Amino acid sequence: MSNAAVKRIGVLTSGGDAPGMNAAIRSVVRTAMNKGIECIGIRRGWSGLINGDFVRLNSDSVSHIINKGGTILYTARCPEFLDREGRAKAIATCKMLGIDGIVAIGGDGTFRGALALTRQIAETGYNLSVVGVPATIDNDIGCSNYTIGFDTAANTAIECIDKLRDTMQSHERCSVVEVMGRHAGFLALYVGISVGATAVLIPEREVDFDRDVVEKIRSARLAGTTHFMIVVAEGAGSAVEIGRRIHDEIGIDPRVTVLGHIQRGGAPTGRDRETASRMGYEAVNALLAGKGNRVIGTKEGSLVDLDMEEALAMVKNLEMYRYDVLEALSPSGT
Ligand code: F6P
Repeated sequence: MSNAAVKRIGVLTSGGDAPGMNAAIRSVVRTAMNKGIECIGIRRGWSGLINGDFVRLNSDSVSHIINKGGTILYTARCPEFLDREGRAKAIATCKMLGIDGIVAIGGDGTFRGALALTRQIAETGYNLSVVGVPATIDNDIGCSNYTIGFDTAANTAIECIDKLRDTMQSHERCSVVEVMGRHAGFLALYVGISVGATAVLIPEREVDFDRDVVEKIRSARLAGTTHFMIVVAEGAGSAVEIGRRIHDEIGIDPRVTVLGHIQRGGAPTGRDRETASRMGYEAVNALLAGKGNRVIGTKEGSLVDLDMEEALAMVKNLEMYRYDVLEALSPSGT
């Protein structure tokens, strides 16, 4: 879809928040304002478009947010947007506000909503372009090597686990830590390598408790280790359940920690601020170049924009060689 005359851009954040979303909002607003394009913040994701929940934004509105976690525009998951009826209300808001371009910051669900909206609005003859900016701590978006928020979340988890390690080491205990990631193990494996975990359980590799936990603890013990760190991706199972099995089947008394939403908060790292700033800039430029239904992604360190439908069909596989790295670096090299 071509729309060379974008005059008013809406920006929203949707789905689970991710550190760096604010930096992306700031980038969209500043890039647009500096090119004479008006900017409207849609609050609470797609539901803000349904309910007409918006705020006018200018350069000052986004001052001092680059370093803040969360999202100043709030976020939500919006089941109503899955229905034509819900989207019809959103279309009415777009028309009422004269929004002809949207930058949607979020994950796959956000982009699916964007695609459905642009298709439905096209039926009415109204020209609306949407560009997606990938932001999720899960890093599970097929079209982009990297998603905003991953680095901050990983570093938060690493910092927490380093603290757990101190006490586990002192007491010669086993720690079982559950990290987020939804159905993917990107976060867990990255964190597991970074903390030198005894074992990492990820959904991409079927969990065999004897092989992946019992054996790992046994070999670490034989190599002289007296404390153990088991990292469990939430998509691979429950840390509580793994802890119970360790207790029942190995006879040691582990301590279980579910890191939970702490991984979603906090000041974004430099990587997340810088990536978000570039992505927001590229998203506005794509709209101004008349491109619609695109998703910004990273490929080999550079930013690209991809057709949204094609982007949504792309699958990103966890590089299993990382698992080999984890195993090769264990005390026993298994
Ligand atoms: O997608 C981000 C994420 O934090 C996932 O890692 C997790 O499974 C999910 O969101 C949690 O969602 P909610 O905040 O709705 O509990």
